[in-house]
Amino acid sequence: MIRSYLIGTFLLERGIVMEELDLQAMLEEIRKTKAPKALQDLRIQFLGKKSALQAALSQMGKLPPEERASFGQRVNMMKKLVAEELDKQQKILDEEAIRLQLTSEEIDLTLPGEAHEHGSKSIINAITDEIIDILIGMGYEVKEGPEVETDHYNFEMLNVPKDHPARDMQDSFYITENLLLRTQTSPVQARTMLERSGVGPIKMICPGKVYRRDDDDATHSHQFTQIEGLVIGEHITMADLKGTLELLAKRMFGEKREIRFRSSFFPFTEPSVEVDVSCFNCDGKGCNICKGTGWIEILGAGMVHPNVLRMGGFDPDKYTGFAFGIGVERIAMLRYGINDIRHLYSNDKRVVKQFVKEG
Ligand code: DAH
Repeated sequence: MIRSYLIGTFLLERGIVMEELDLQAMLEEIRKTKAPKALQDLRIQFLGKKSALQAALSQMGKLPPEERASFGQRVNMMKKLVAEELDKQQKILDEEAIRLQLTSEEIDLTLPGEAHEHGSKSIINAITDEIIDILIGMGYEVKEGPEVETDHYNFEMLNVPKDHPARDMQDSFYITENLLLRTQTSPVQARTMLERSGVGPIKMICPGKVYRRDDDDATHSHQFTQIEGLVIGEHITMADLKGTLELLAKRMFGEKREIRFRSSFFPFTEPSVEVDVSCFNCDGKGCNICKGTGWIEILGAGMVHPNVLRMGGFDPDKYTGFAFGIGVERIAMLRYGINDIRHLYSNDKRVVKQFVKEG
């Protein structure tokens, strides 16, 4: 081994005055240094231009030529050991800093979280989806139509010419003379018929919003929701209509339910009927929900009027059909015993939570 690193002594022996450089003391000081800034200062002090090691190297020229190489090696070896110790300590300090940061930023997974209340389907959408599911199960396809509709489709194609008194039944929001917010989903019947160019069968439903110029109160809303149904085929009869609606009523209100037809009027159906379901509250005995009659009106329906078939491009001698229109709000109110239609739009959490399961 090199005769320790007694560089000072070595130089002194050759007449060059220099304090001894104590390697062990230097290494010890490095190991003791815990502050990053202090370690940086030590690096400058031990290895910088003004360091004792650098000063020793600058004395090399004063040595006899044959000793210069081994002297240089010694000093460089010492520099290397000091540098290595500095790096080692630097690494220890870096790791310590990271460890400190990690512990200070530690997340306590046992702390209670912030609970977010989540929303749920609106009652209207829940009922609409339920009815759609039932009807899809019976082979219906789902169609859509525009909410801003032409007078032509909303009325004329449904056998309601201008000045027809039936227009008064549906007070409308007009946008221009010929454009309005649709008052019913029935125009989608006409649109679907034209799409098929007179070729049956058709079996479609159309859910959607409709608009009427009504003052909002407990039973009226200027905007509500309908589900239209249309079936056209070569041998469709009123018995098919009754069978279909009976099944729908049983699925919606319970297997024990029966339905009955009452004669009514719609311009687009002939004959037209209003459909009642036997009261699901009193089983037909008579209560306040069915107003003592044992029956509750749930929708309008009928056999498609020959004029409507003809305008839709279907030959009434070949094809017959039935149609129905369901008011979704009415079904929801009956189902859940809601006595004011406005509750369905108020977004009052107490209402929503009470009637709709989460999910
Ligand atoms: N469109 C009618 C209304 O809004 C409801 C209706 C009744 C639709 C009978 C039909 C139907 O398709 O056949 O009052």
